[in-house]
Amino acid sequence: MYDRPPEVSDGLRLHLNENTAGCSPRVLDALRGLTARDIGCYPGYEAAIRECAAYLGVSDDQVLLCNGLDEGLMALALVCLGPGAAAGGRPEAVIPEPAFELYRIYTDIAGGHVVAVPPRPDFRFALSEILEAITPRTRLVFLTNPNNPTGTRIARSEIHEVLARAPADATVFLDEAYADFSGETFLDELPRHPHLVIGRTFAKSHGLAGIRIGCLIGAASTLLPFRRVVPVYSVNAAAVAALGAALGDRAHVAWYVAQVEASKALMYDACDRLGLGYIVSAANFVLVKAGDRARALVDGLAARRIHVRDRGHQPGCAGCVRIATGVVDDTRRCVAAMEDVLCGDR
Ligand SMILES: Cc1ncc(COP(=O)(O)O)c(C=O)c1O
Repeated sequence: MYDRPPEVSDGLRLHLNENTAGCSPRVLDALRGLTARDIGCYPGYEAAIRECAAYLGVSDDQVLLCNGLDEGLMALALVCLGPGAAAGGRPEAVIPEPAFELYRIYTDIAGGHVVAVPPRPDFRFALSEILEAITPRTRLVFLTNPNNPTGTRIARSEIHEVLARAPADATVFLDEAYADFSGETFLDELPRHPHLVIGRTFAKSHGLAGIRIGCLIGAASTLLPFRRVVPVYSVNAAAVAALGAALGDRAHVAWYVAQVEASKALMYDACDRLGLGYIVSAANFVLVKAGDRARALVDGLAARRIHVRDRGHQPGCAGCVRIATGVVDDTRRCVAAMEDVLCGDR
């Protein structure tokens, strides 16, 4: 079961990789513009799908909007791993660890078997181990670029090798939740790979986590079984309005991505000063290797109303704390508090 973090209503939220600036002001205007009738009707998606497809550079029938990418992950698991997915044995999902925890949870719910690939000590993509883990029973391979919780990248050539090894009736899922921060995408390769599905969320770079909107992208025929599983009106009228406005404000996203870059540099410097290790990240967070100071760091920051995420229970992550690096002023506040917690008694 997902270990839902306790709700925090105040303080600085750096524990869920959210956008610390929130959404574009244009999104708020769009939401204020909703009428009683808009709310009273089931939502129409056509315009939102068109805008989303144009933003991603694909055709409309290659986009399946969902209620957060989480819902897309659930659909993937149900279709690829549910009853009847593999004749003569339990269908398998290959999950390179450490990974976004819902991959494992949805695999279990769908009745699939998790084939976990342990991490390398430096968290570099474990290509040969992943290729070895793929069998004729593999129905789903989860890849995340950049990865959560490490922020590490996967090279294009490595994705190609996984696609070449996966059985023809398996789906290779590439989660690009944090792609706007790395500036890398595999979307242009979709036409060459019919069993590839890419996931995007607008929760992170576009700051729409509270609205719940994401999508699956793939060849039109590949998406058909997933369309049958995603509830008909799972994306609500507010999300439809918010998405159009958010996609229309590219300057907001570009500004935020630049804030994240500057914030990561501040976080690396702070770690160097404090003698903490870290993984260089292509996403909007940094995995800090705090070792036996991890608990003190998490608790000390929480006491100062700064919330970060202990990842110590994930494979290979003992002593690791994940910290979102968003708006520079927020990161400065976090860094000052880290110094206070770890050096306060000097
Ligand atoms: C790798 C990854 N995939 C998917 C999601 C879910 O995105 P959403 O908020 O759109 O459900 C997250 C959220 O943290 C994530 O880190």
